[in-house]
Amino acid sequence: MRTLWGAGFEEDTNQLVARFSQSVHSDLTFWQEDVIGSVAHARMLGDTGIISREESNLLIKGLEQIHEEGPDRLPKDVEDIHTAVEVRLREIVGDVAGKLNTARSRNDQIATDTRLFLHNELLRHLDLLKKLQRTLISLADKHKDDLMPGYTHTQRAQPVTLGFHLLAHFWALQRHGYRAERLTLLANFSPLGANVLAGTSFPINRDQTSDELGFTAPIPNALDATSDRSYILDALHLCAQTMIDLSRLSQELVLWSSREYGFVTLSESVTTGSSVLPQKRNPDMAELIRGRAGKAIGNYVALATALKGLPLGYNRDTQDDKPPLFESLKLTRDAIRLSHLMLETANWHTDRMREAVRGDFSTATDLADALAARGVPFREAFEQVAKFVRHCEESGISLEDATMADLHHCIPEANEADLVLLQPEESVRRRNSFGAPGPEAMRIQLERATAVVEAEGFAELA
Ligand code: ARG
Repeated sequence: MRTLWGAGFEEDTNQLVARFSQSVHSDLTFWQEDVIGSVAHARMLGDTGIISREESNLLIKGLEQIHEEGPDRLPKDVEDIHTAVEVRLREIVGDVAGKLNTARSRNDQIATDTRLFLHNELLRHLDLLKKLQRTLISLADKHKDDLMPGYTHTQRAQPVTLGFHLLAHFWALQRHGYRAERLTLLANFSPLGANVLAGTSFPINRDQTSDELGFTAPIPNALDATSDRSYILDALHLCAQTMIDLSRLSQELVLWSSREYGFVTLSESVTTGSSVLPQKRNPDMAELIRGRAGKAIGNYVALATALKGLPLGYNRDTQDDKPPLFESLKLTRDAIRLSHLMLETANWHTDRMREAVRGDFSTATDLADALAARGVPFREAFEQVAKFVRHCEESGISLEDATMADLHHCIPEANEADLVLLQPEESVRRRNSFGAPGPEAMRIQLERATAVVEAEGFAELA
């Protein structure tokens, strides 16, 4: 294994040491960021006269060639990506390659690479969130009048609509977008030029490299610049949170696509079969998302544990912050795309949902509300309605089928209008408080969600 530091050593590195510490294969994920960062540094070294203009141009030309060649031409028998780029650069431009690391170390370089990489990844992440949100809005609009049971404790509680339920997931995604967007701002500061931990006596221009790389500004403290990994922890947390919410959507799809619910059939393009049971269409993608949320949480915990108690200054422990970052970002992105695919291609059985609302006593509250609205204290109304529900259960009828006689049996002051309230359509139609599933409230919510998704970025939360 070739390294940048072997010169002062007399003994060869033990094979196991090499294997245990080498990171070049994982580092290749951000080879481009490493090259781009080096171009900015080389240009700044020339502009400030730290190296000659000719030397700077040679370095930049060599680095641009590496960029064009792609990662295949980079040597892999090296310690890390920084070594790979420098070794290849020497093959192209000769000994002047040795000047590239003037006033820079791998410690500020790795932090620069990771921040650049994360920034680009988050922008892709934000795009995918918007796409999934758009699909949720169009599904919600299509199904805004399709009744389904609303659950608490996984027990039917009150009738809602499929559109209303889907919009709940829309707002969760808006919060994930908000967090991700904030992180693009929080992490977009340049460590480059911090050097090993304490800057340099060379007259470097950190503003120049920061600007060229698209950062907001250089990080003001060189020790902080090389020590901080909180942006990686934030990204892992962001992924974990997003995966947790996607796992909840997935769990609903698993339940709803079972024969017991029968609310949805997932498309064959996103389900798998059984090698033994020909009738099976298994919701494996939803299950994998649900399961891999555990992986995303684990990655967050792993890095948080590694960082806890680390003294400031570069520590090799932090080399291992990158593989979980790559894994969580990719996993979360795939999960967003798969959720999109499952929803977009699903066949919704709105008749079954409507049927599930029938006879589930979930309009009982509407009757209690109506009595309360006429001045009966809610607690008393609740008791009368509870008596009425029991009466219906004992008589083997649903609330929808109850007659005036049934109603009067338990609630003497009930009237004809109360009977209508027991119909689920009426129950939803009347619930128009802000954020409710009634048609008027849903019209407002759909308008709001559309405005939010059309707005640039994720700044709006309501
Ligand atoms: N591979 C290292 C990492 O990912 C790069 C920085 C190495 N610096 C050092 N002083 N050993 O953290």
